[in-house]
Amino acid sequence: MAASIIDGKAISEKTRDEVLQEATELKARTGIVPHLAAILVGNDPASQVYVRNKERACEKAGLRSTLHRLPETTTQQELLTLIQQLNSDASVHGILVQLPLPKHIDSVTVLDAVHPLKDVDAFHPENVGLMLQGRPRFLPCTPAGVMKMLQVSNVQTAGRHAVVIGRSDIVGKPMAALLMQKGADATVTLCHSRTTDIRRWCLEADILVAAVGIPEFVKGDWVKPGAVVIDVGINRVEDRLVGDVEYSPAAERASMITPVPGGVGPMTIAMLLRNTLTAAKMI
Ligand code: GUN
Repeated sequence: MAASIIDGKAISEKTRDEVLQEATELKARTGIVPHLAAILVGNDPASQVYVRNKERACEKAGLRSTLHRLPETTTQQELLTLIQQLNSDASVHGILVQLPLPKHIDSVTVLDAVHPLKDVDAFHPENVGLMLQGRPRFLPCTPAGVMKMLQVSNVQTAGRHAVVIGRSDIVGKPMAALLMQKGADATVTLCHSRTTDIRRWCLEADILVAAVGIPEFVKGDWVKPGAVVIDVGINRVEDRLVGDVEYSPAAERASMITPVPGGVGPMTIAMLLRNTLTAAKMI
């Protein structure tokens, strides 16, 4: 039986409409227009596309966005100075530093410098800590987008075995945390590059989340029949975008699957808009 497709584009549009409605109400009530400041350092082609998509999404959702484009040669101190300015600018509610940063800049130092109340990526240790304790201020965009997709698709998580592949700070770790959180109540296994026999764990998964960044890493016959497969990967292979899952054979076995593109990607942006609105409402 072929899987049904979890349409991230359609689900994200609904979230974006909700943000537009709430932003319109906020403006009518208080005059505040939620404002996202994005910082892009260098010329990474994928980052240029992401940042442009984020700007466009902000506009459509009634949010203001400002892009700060800095050259590849920007020093860490120059970047930190800009962040300090944006931290103390009352008209800015959210700050996003597009990753990856050039190699001469220490990402941890830079991300730690973003004011926790403006940290709409939810990367700051204070926000990671609050999320882990189950009292989030902002939810990390990609994992939150995945949780929303599961909810809207009526996927039961409680008591089920969720396997997350990948232990990045942006996706794998917070994804595992949200799935095990009270309310979601999944039993979670996190696999990574040192896990022996990843296939065996995948075959045990009722919900399989792939976030490894390796094209088609998860093979179709690693999917337990009837599982829900969430593919977080966006990899460019020649002129095609492919996920971290071998899509067609996986879709033959899964009950539900997210496509690439049009799956998790649009949800990440929708959640960023939601976080920017949340930040504006906090002041
Ligand atoms: N680069 C890849 N994903 C992300 C993300 O979610 N946020 C930021 N700031 N940069 C990224």
